[in-house]
Amino acid sequence: MNLKGRDYIETQDFSADEIDFLLSKATELKAAFHRGEHRIELPHQTVYLLFFDKSTRTRNAFEAGATQLGAHAHFLEPSSLQISHGETAKDTGIILGQMGHGIAIRHDLIPEVGNRYLREVAEHAEVPVINMQCDIDHPTQTLADLMTIREHFGGDVRGKKIAVSWAYAPSYAKPLSVPQGLITLMTRMGLNVTLAHPPGFDLMKRPMEFAQANAKEAGVNFEVVDNMDDAFADADIVYPKSWGAYDLMLQKRDATSSKQIDAIEQDCLKLNANHKEWICDEKLMKRAKSDAIYMHCLPADRGSEVTDAVIDGPQSIVFQEAENRLHTAKAIMACTMRERPFK
Ligand code: CP
Repeated sequence: MNLKGRDYIETQDFSADEIDFLLSKATELKAAFHRGEHRIELPHQTVYLLFFDKSTRTRNAFEAGATQLGAHAHFLEPSSLQISHGETAKDTGIILGQMGHGIAIRHDLIPEVGNRYLREVAEHAEVPVINMQCDIDHPTQTLADLMTIREHFGGDVRGKKIAVSWAYAPSYAKPLSVPQGLITLMTRMGLNVTLAHPPGFDLMKRPMEFAQANAKEAGVNFEVVDNMDDAFADADIVYPKSWGAYDLMLQKRDATSSKQIDAIEQDCLKLNANHKEWICDEKLMKRAKSDAIYMHCLPADRGSEVTDAVIDGPQSIVFQEAENRLHTAKAIMACTMRERPFK
């Protein structure tokens, strides 16, 4: 299988076999990393990491991963680029593409904006564009999640039940892309998916349609409920995390000042605060199977999304999940980036 030159923007753009291929590569690179073997697969190549939002795991997975593959990663923030003076996605894509070998972008906070930006860069860049989280999908995260689930359960995870649930967070209105990416990818890979959220926290229409179609094709269930108790019942995997209300977050797209954006953010947090009882605690974990695992993409709002007893407890695999961000980021770069001349 050859994925050289392919953009990695949504998992839905890739076949199940291609996802498996990326995961095999991640597993191979992880084993080599733990043996202390150097895998210089992208010598002298450059990947640009363009962040419109903050990051700990994703940035460091890509920066460390690029170094480990023999490449160099440039960390770029729009505020220090001509993007802040209005340079277009098209021009940015052409120019970075001419100078390097890959462009990875995080643009996740405003619905209906980030994915479009990535697609426009990808249309004009001659190198692969990798999605480090947009408004629709977080495909490097969900690839690491699938890797972690397979590692834990030992390979075949078809027929397992994953509960993807909203949870309360006071820190910020988190993007919808993780739950959207999960319901899309996990249904396609044959897991039964139950999505839970309070009224007003619906996900975007397109990923919901993908999840329904994927579940039908895979012969598994995809259902939506309005409480954590039902979602967690007999689950093998629980993934409770917060996201902001789409309708409110969408108002940020049309805001004309940072003051307006701050006011919308406060409205989002007020709405979140109506549902403080949506927390993953030990009592709720008992609704799931006794050997169920707790997952979270991190950062987690401890004491709000989840109690310390759960996230630090024996069922939590969040740090294995976070480490797998490195191995999957490396797999995606190694499989899609290539040296010139391009064929
Ligand atoms: N899970 C995740 O994407 O973490 P960061 O926001 O720290 O990159």
